Amino acid sequence: MIMRELQRRAVDGIKRHALTMSIGSPRAEAHILEEYLWSEESAESDALRQTLGAAAPPRWLSKLLDRQLADERRHAQLLRARMAELGAATARPLPAIARAKLWWIERACAPYAGSFAAGPVVVLLAIAAQFEATGVRMFGRHLGVLEEHERASGASHPTAEVVRAILADERRHAKSCAAALERLVLDEERAALAELRERIATVDRSFGVTLALGFWALTATNALRDRGRAS
Ligand SMILES: [Fe+2]
Ligand SMILES: [Fe+2]
Repeated sequence: MIMRELQRRAVDGIKRHALTMSIGSPRAEAHILEEYLWSEESAESDALRQTLGAAAPPRWLSKLLDRQLADERRHAQLLRARMAELGAATARPLPAIARAKLWWIERACAPYAGSFAAGPVVVLLAIAAQFEATGVRMFGRHLGVLEEHERASGASHPTAEVVRAILADERRHAKSCAAALERLVLDEERAALAELRERIATVDRSFGVTLALGFWALTATNALRDRGRAS
C-alpha cells in the first residue's frame, strides 16, 4: 500500500514537472497532445469498440458505447486541431511500450473471460473503465498545471480550453463505465469483478514510472530545442 502511494506520487510529480516545462514550448506541447491522441484513438476507442463488438452487449450498453465513441472521435479532432496550431501536422504511431502495456492488460484479463454470466463483455468493459479513469487523472493533472499558469499570467491558455472540454466528457465516461459494470454483474460476481479490476490497475501502475520518465525526457528535449531556437 505504501509502495503504491509512493509510486503514484512519483508518477504525478514527474508528469507535473514535465507539463510545467511544456508551457511556452510548441514542440513539447504538441508532443504531449500526441500522447493524448494515442490514448483517444488507440486505448480508449479500441477498448470501447471491442466492448461493442463482444457477443451481444445489451442494447442500453451499445447505445452508451456509441455515444462515448462519438465523444472520443470529437476529442481526437480537438487534439489534432490544436496540434496543427502548434505546427505539428502528423501523429507518430503508438510506441512499442504502449502496445506492450495493452498486451499485458489483455493477458492479465484472459482468465476472467468465462467468469461472468453476462459474458466477456464484462472483461472488455472493465478495461475500458480503467482507461477512462486514467484519462480523468491525466487530463485533470494537465488542466491543474495549465490553470495555475492561467491564474499567474491572467490570460487564458488555448490548450487549457481543449483539455477542459475533454476532461468534462472523460469524467462522465468514467462514471458511466463504472455504473455499467455494476449493472452487468450479478451480486455473487462482485468479488471476481473487484479482483479483475485490481489486476488491470496493477498492470497499468507497473508501467507508470517507466512511461512517466519517457514522457519527462521527451518533453524536456522538446522544450530545450524550442528554447535553443528562441535564444
Ligand atoms: Fe476521450
Ligand atoms: Fe473517454
